[in-house]
Amino acid sequence: MEEKRTLLFSGDVHGLIPTFVHRLADELSYKHADCVVCGDFGIGFDNSWENVYQRISKKLEKNDIHIWVVRGNHDNPEYFENEEKYSKEYVTFMEDYKIYKINGVEILPIGGATSHDRNFRLENNWTWWEGEKIKRVDIKSLPIKVDVIVTHQAPLVFDPVTVKTELDDDSVHEDELAERKYFNDIAFNVKVKHWYYGHYHDHYAGEFKGINYTCLGIVRKEPGNIEADYPEIVEYKNSQDSEEIYQKLFCNKEESINPSNS
Ligand SMILES: [Fe+2]
Repeated sequence: MEEKRTLLFSGDVHGLIPTFVHRLADELSYKHADCVVCGDFGIGFDNSWENVYQRISKKLEKNDIHIWVVRGNHDNPEYFENEEKYSKEYVTFMEDYKIYKINGVEILPIGGATSHDRNFRLENNWTWWEGEKIKRVDIKSLPIKVDVIVTHQAPLVFDPVTVKTELDDDSVHEDELAERKYFNDIAFNVKVKHWYYGHYHDHYAGEFKGINYTCLGIVRKEPGNIEADYPEIVEYKNSQDSEEIYQKLFCNKEESINPSNS
């Protein structure tokens, strides 16, 4: 008999990949699970992916866990441009805008974000990828509805409020606002039940026009010890409530709900 699988979503991993797998498999004891990482897996900062995968593959195989990775700003975009090239048996790098069906749930990944520390990284010759931003498409080319959208960045109408930090100059702040407004267009035009994202390193959750949104944070396990940090991990629940809201808002209602169109 085929095992029932659990669908999980996680916040930013930031390169602590073996710690993350230890958390999933040993501490939380997940078995027969799929876990979608909402960006900043921390892939591509060096050439160690083969070595890292060797360190985690046995545990993933033993517990039957598959990791699905959405592109963050702190991920090399190349890994996500050709799924076949870098993906492994238990880890898939998800292509932007490709629909994946995982455990019967349709998931649309849209990776990328503007780095808050873009200028600092450039000034100090730290790794920074020119292709980090969200790649835009014509909204009309997107599906009319999908169960779940997973991103790194968030629509402007979701939490948190965008504020200019001490690391942001005007161009970083404007780029972030533009990205969040682009995601607003998607939130207003694609009928989606759940939207998961990371990037803000804290937990936020709410409901906006029938979309249950969740920002997954980072859990500081031992303050001051970054090696002990791990991302927040939640189980996907297609609750009756969200299904009812979804039906009420969207069924037999084909017109766009984007106020800019009305
Ligand atoms: Fe991050």
